[in-house]
Amino acid sequence: MIILKTPQEIEILKQGGQILHRILREVAKKVKSGISTWELNDIAENLIQQAGAEPSFKNYEGYPASLCVSVNDHVVHGIPSRDKIIQSGDIVGLDLGIWYQGLCTDTAITIGVDHINKVAKKLIKVTRKSLELGIKQAKPGRTLGDIGATIQNYVEKNGFSVVKQLAGHGVGRQVHEDPRVLNFGQSGRGEILKPGMVIAIEPMVNVGGYQVETLDDQWTVATKDGSWSAHFEHTIAITERGNQILT
Ligand code: MF3
Ligand code: CO
Ligand code: CO
Repeated sequence: MIILKTPQEIEILKQGGQILHRILREVAKKVKSGISTWELNDIAENLIQQAGAEPSFKNYEGYPASLCVSVNDHVVHGIPSRDKIIQSGDIVGLDLGIWYQGLCTDTAITIGVDHINKVAKKLIKVTRKSLELGIKQAKPGRTLGDIGATIQNYVEKNGFSVVKQLAGHGVGRQVHEDPRVLNFGQSGRGEILKPGMVIAIEPMVNVGGYQVETLDDQWTVATKDGSWSAHFEHTIAITERGNQILT
């Protein structure tokens, strides 16, 4: 069931989303060759605490950290580790969520470390743009299929593939709520968007095939063919006139 949020709840989500956005930017600045993904998680946790918020991923279905750090062929849900050291040329996905005044928001970016290859650059650009285009579809009267189809068409036109096994989601009262927000589909199909819906749109885009697998740590999702993958995510609220990006 899709839970619509009240204007008061959306106001709180906006405040939380602004805090989350600022924290993720701060963490992103620390992404340099030589730093461990564990240290990045530590930095995120400290910033969350200082902001009077709480990490929303920690212990969510047993997830052991506050930040997800997914490097190169890792798609999402990379677990921070002291042994995982960022290197020059890597692409690093950072996904973070917080609770603020009882409500949660979720956002992700992918960044390149120093000089990254041409394909990696294009991958990041196309994934970021696909999110932007998906968000433009998110207004009353449009459907979830409009969002998915727009993202898929743009990504595939650029020679990449969208991950089909994972999706965006409703968010706010819980980390994951209905509906599922697929990154593929057919325009005009699926749930009609209404003011008060709050959703996380999060395209995951692979250079090669769309297939993914979960690694032995039970969390990290990686591409099957070893090709690199990028991920961007925003939490948005559907408004009367369109949408508002909360993160
Ligand atoms: N942030 C992820 C998402 O975008 C979910 C992370 S759940 C966790 O939906 F348990 F891995 F943290
Ligand atoms: Co996320
Ligand atoms: Co999400």
